[in-house]
Amino acid sequence: MPGINCIGILTSGGDAPGMNAAIRAVTRSAIYSGLKVKGIYRGYKGLITDEIVEFKTQNVSNIIQMGGTILKTARCKEFETPEGRRLAYSVLKEHGIDALVVIGGDGSLTGARIFATEFNFPIVGLPGTIDNDLYGTDTTIGYDTALNTIMECVDKIRDTATSHERLFFIEVMGRDAGFLALNGAIASGAEAAIIPEISTEVDQLAELIQNGFRKSKNSSIVLVAESPVTGGAMALAERVKKEYPTYDVRVSILGHLQRGGSPTAHDRILASRMGAAAVDAFLDDQRNVMIGVKNDEIVYVPFAKAIKNDKPINRDLLNTLRRLSI
Ligand code: F6P
Repeated sequence: MPGINCIGILTSGGDAPGMNAAIRAVTRSAIYSGLKVKGIYRGYKGLITDEIVEFKTQNVSNIIQMGGTILKTARCKEFETPEGRRLAYSVLKEHGIDALVVIGGDGSLTGARIFATEFNFPIVGLPGTIDNDLYGTDTTIGYDTALNTIMECVDKIRDTATSHERLFFIEVMGRDAGFLALNGAIASGAEAAIIPEISTEVDQLAELIQNGFRKSKNSSIVLVAESPVTGGAMALAERVKKEYPTYDVRVSILGHLQRGGSPTAHDRILASRMGAAAVDAFLDDQRNVMIGVKNDEIVYVPFAKAIKNDKPINRDLLNTLRRLSI
């Protein structure tokens, strides 16, 4: 894109494994194309408070395998105000940054969209979230690693569930989306997943109980998406204890361990491809788009589309889970 000489890069919102691989890819692709790169620390917060450092190729050496984000991250209330965004814009100008790559989830890309429109500023987003809840991309950076972490945890919980013949509700992250719960259940051979996407259609717990969980087994594992719509694992366990006292119920909430750890090969490759594509996007005169991957091809998804639409779950997966848990 004519007029772009220096790209700023930041990570924002919840960290996700693979963010470092994305930072590395953006930095190296930009330098390869003759552009300057500046790393902005602590997301939009660091943009306002001027925590900005020029990045050379060495700044991103030896980080592809690291979880978290070397740029740190934050959720920034000030950036939600026009004054905060005005400050951020003046800091960008002072540093000669004329385009931004924002790596983050729904909230971060919403902020990017508002800022880009307000200041006519070129921004490209990368979907960095374990939740996989951004529309227009088959998967997001960090999702595969989190899924593998969930699978490993459930494998371990299964040992004790089987030994004690217990029913376990395991709560996983995902904010308002059930991708981690549903695919985590399939990957770990769980009996069921309770997800927000179908919570309004059926009483998933009643359905499970009617089906006798898994008739052929005395222990069961149910993955529960953390959303208020599902009620969460604790509430479901309480309900079972009251209504079906014969079940020996336990709860495990996996929490933030799902966001940590070294990214899988899948996430490293995804982040590397997307990071390089973000720089290509600017060179192709694109702006205000999120980089996505559809059927293994890089696509540009306008911010409005990526943020506004609810990404649908694949109902075939629900059916597969049901068929395999008899
Ligand atoms: O969006 C990523 C995510 O890990 C969600 O799955 C979860 O609901 C949320 O962030 C937790 O946020 P925090 O770390 O701020 O508590």
